[in-house]
Amino acid sequence: MERKRVLSGMRPSGRLHLGNLHGALDNWVRFQEEFDCFYFVADWHALTTEYAAPHDIGGDTFEMIVDWLAVGIDPTRSTIFIQSLIPEHAELHLLLSMITPLPWLERNPTYKEQMAEITDKDLTTYGFLGYPVLQAADIVLYKAHYVPVGVDQLPHVELTREIVRRFNHFYGEIFPVPEAKLTEVPKLPGVDGRKMSKSYGNAIYLGDSAETVEEKVLTAKTDPARARRHDPGEPLNCAAIYPLHRLYTPAEELPMIEANCRGAKWGCVECKRHLLGHMQARLEPIREQRGLYRSHPEKVRKVIEDGIERATAVARQSMEEVRDAMGLGALPLGGD
Ligand code: TRP
Repeated sequence: MERKRVLSGMRPSGRLHLGNLHGALDNWVRFQEEFDCFYFVADWHALTTEYAAPHDIGGDTFEMIVDWLAVGIDPTRSTIFIQSLIPEHAELHLLLSMITPLPWLERNPTYKEQMAEITDKDLTTYGFLGYPVLQAADIVLYKAHYVPVGVDQLPHVELTREIVRRFNHFYGEIFPVPEAKLTEVPKLPGVDGRKMSKSYGNAIYLGDSAETVEEKVLTAKTDPARARRHDPGEPLNCAAIYPLHRLYTPAEELPMIEANCRGAKWGCVECKRHLLGHMQARLEPIREQRGLYRSHPEKVRKVIEDGIERATAVARQSMEEVRDAMGLGALPLGGD
């Protein structure tokens, strides 16, 4: 039986952090066992907000793909590519824009939220409003069945489903209606206890050296009630360290960790050192792989070239079906 297809993308944000690893990449890696996976860099999507001053999109794309490879996205099983190098995304975006009613885009909660929150950029553009139409094109171009995303992206997948239904209704059953695959991980706090995010400066990166990880962990916030060594603490109130224990420390050790905190048997430093043992063991192989790929950019390039070739074959096939269904692309021969 043919394996079902999974597709997901990330905007090029450069080096990835532990929040990205546990929020998305761990799942991406797992899906490779079961599905035919397509993973891509959504660099056009980055331009919808960064158009006035694009950061180093090429460099950030490279660093991000290096991180994907380092955590175990396997280019022999998954197709890895870059949106802007496959112009079929743009063609399909245009065609889907013909059938997408404006009110569907205007009532999109993500759109409304970002319009309200992002005040330092002018987002009153055609491209930004059409963000989910481009995302729909990304998804259906490969006839994906499942789209792994975080909750923030659910409205976009829902819109994709509506656009697909409308398309299939007008032109015939060309595309499967995709389903979101939600990542169930709670948001990982950064070292200051707020959500881990590049923009908060509280992130631990996959590419951080062992020393940097150690320094960040040792200065991370814990339970504010533990002002002194002998004050008892509560793991559930621990800002940054206990959440990391839950990810890195084997489950059978957690009761001991909790007891040592609640009974003030350990100081936070001992607790952090214990965590570091487990964390470094998990992160070291990733760092090593990262180092290998970064010193062999030609390997990364080859992965991307192969991915583009495979993705292009699928994209071209889909576009032939789409043009045909919409009555486009045939040379008018005239006569009767
Ligand atoms: N909008 C997604 C995000 O910001 C990125 C993205 C673009 C995407 N196209 C996609 C995700 C298609 C899944 C499928 O995270």
